[in-house]
Amino acid sequence: MTLVKTLLQTTVNAGRQMLSQPLSGLVEPKSTHGVLVPICSLGPQHRERMAQHLLALGSQDRYMRFGYMATDEQIQRYVDALDFGRDEIFGIFNRYLKLVALAHLAYSRDSQTGSCAEFGVSVQPQSRGRGYGARLFEHATMHARNAGVKMLFIHALSENIPMISIARKHGARVERDGSETEAYLLLPPADLDSQLTELVSEQFAQTNYAIKKQVNRFLDTLAEMQEIRQGVREARHQSAE
Ligand SMILES: CC(C)(COP(=O)(O)OP(=O)(O)OC[C@H]1O[C@@H](n2cnc3c(N)ncnc32)[C@H](O)[C@@H]1OP(=O)(O)O)[C@@H](O)C(=O)NCCC(=O)NCCS
Repeated sequence: MTLVKTLLQTTVNAGRQMLSQPLSGLVEPKSTHGVLVPICSLGPQHRERMAQHLLALGSQDRYMRFGYMATDEQIQRYVDALDFGRDEIFGIFNRYLKLVALAHLAYSRDSQTGSCAEFGVSVQPQSRGRGYGARLFEHATMHARNAGVKMLFIHALSENIPMISIARKHGARVERDGSETEAYLLLPPADLDSQLTELVSEQFAQTNYAIKKQVNRFLDTLAEMQEIRQGVREARHQSAE
C-alpha cells in the first residue's frame, strides 16, 4: 500500500510540476513543501561545481559545515579527496546548473561500524529556509537505508538550530555535549517502497538535469546568435558612414 502510495504521489507531483508552468522544476521554489525537488547523485565530473559551492560559503558557514574554519585549501583538498565509489554525494542545481545545495553521505570505513554513515550538508545562504536541507536529509536517509545502513550520524555545533531541527524532526536522538551536538537516527531496513522511491527520484532528477542542460545550451546559442547579429549590424553602420 505504501509502495503504491509513494509511486502515485511521486508521479502525480512530478506531473503536476511539469504541467503547472513550462519551466517548472527549473525555477527555484520559495518552499519545497509538497514539491518534488530534483536531487542528483553527483560524480567526479561535478568536482568543480562542488568546490565553487563550498568556497562561496562564508567563514561561519564553513565552521558550521566542517566543525572548523576550513580554509580554501582545506576545502579544495576535501573536494579532491571525495571518494565517489564509496560515499554518496547529492546536489540540488538551480536553473543555471549552479549547485545550490550539497550533501555528503559518508559510509563508515571501519568494519566494526560498517552499518553506520555520517551526513553533512550545506545550502547556499540565498536558498535557505526553503526546505532543501530537510529534503537532502530525507534523500540521504533513503539511500542509506537502501545501502543497509542502520544508524545515521549527524555531528553539529549546538548553535546550529536549523541542522538540529532537521535531525530532531526526522526522529533522531539528539545529545548535546557543550558546544557540540551529536544526533543519531536509527533507520528501518530497506523495503520495496524505499528502493522504488530511490529509483523514481533518481530518474526524475536526471531528466530535470538534462532539461536544464539543454535550456542552458539553447540560451547560449541564442546569445551567440544575438552577438553575431549585433556585429553584422555594427559593421553595416560603419560601412554606411
Ligand atoms: C543547516 C542548513 C543546511 C539548513 O538548510 P536549509 O535549506 O535552510 O534548511 P531547511 O529549509 O530544510 O530548514 C530546516 C529547519 O530549520 C529551520 N530553520 C532554518 N533556518 C533557521 C534559523 N535561522 N533559525 C531557526 N530555525 C531555522 C526551518 O524552519 C526548518 O524547520 P521546520 O522544518 O521545523 O520548519 C543550512 O543552514 C546551511 O547550509 N548551514 C551551513 C552549513 C551547516 O551548518 N551544515 C550542517 C552541518 S553538517
